[in-house]
Amino acid sequence: MFSVSDALKRRISVRAFKPDPVPEALLRDILDVARYAPSGGNVQPWKVIVVAGAARDAVSRAGKAAVFANPAGEEGDRPIYPANLWEPHRSWRFKVGEDMYALLGIPREDKAARLQHVARNFDFFDAPVGLFFVIDERMGHGQWAHLGMLMQSIALAALERGVSSCMQEAWARVRVTLKRHFGLAEGEMVYCGMALGYADEAAVVNTLRSERAAVDEFARFEGF
Ligand SMILES: Cc1cc2nc3c(=O)[nH]c(=O)nc-3n(C[C@H](O)[C@H](O)[C@H](O)COP(=O)(O)O)c2cc1C
Repeated sequence: MFSVSDALKRRISVRAFKPDPVPEALLRDILDVARYAPSGGNVQPWKVIVVAGAARDAVSRAGKAAVFANPAGEEGDRPIYPANLWEPHRSWRFKVGEDMYALLGIPREDKAARLQHVARNFDFFDAPVGLFFVIDERMGHGQWAHLGMLMQSIALAALERGVSSCMQEAWARVRVTLKRHFGLAEGEMVYCGMALGYADEAAVVNTLRSERAAVDEFARFEGF
């Protein structure tokens, strides 16, 4: 068992999984503890779809077909990143991408290989379980942030149980397809996906360790 601080540092995005299944009871246990995540006004602005087996394979096929048909992404008014991301965020985003592709041995010019790697998202990086986070379109930016708290809580509760994760906003590229695939209600949408499973410790991509800005770069202290 490790401390909360350890868990925060140990959680990484795992992008290669072993095929070993994660039992439904364990997934229920993870959600049962993660549901204590806070949300403003306790509105709990989330629904979660958990897929494994044939359901996982079916959404994987639908996602891949949709993204190869339209690599730029389906229509929608909620892009993954703001246009013309500015500094320092732009450089941080660039760096983690370059570090990952360097580990994978994929050069910058090899757009096809990079797209193939992005497409691995739609195989959940071979994880046996996928989660989809659904939010009502009427919810505002506050509730989207609160959904993030649930996601991090799931990732940490999973880690405690030896289960690794990768949050996957890549699925946002195929929101129209997902809405149809899952038969979501008119006002519902998938915000994000998440791959869950047992990390392939031998995979080089899982040696990636992303950097963070130091405290003084993002925090200021007043009144001390
Ligand atoms: C909401 C969210 C969505 C993400 N979507 C993806 C994704 O689609 N594919 C992917 O490979 N990584 C995705 N990531 C992982 C980030 O790239 C990663 O968290 C970041 O680089 C920091 O690395 P770490 O998670 O290993 O600490 C996502 C992370 C978050 C929080």
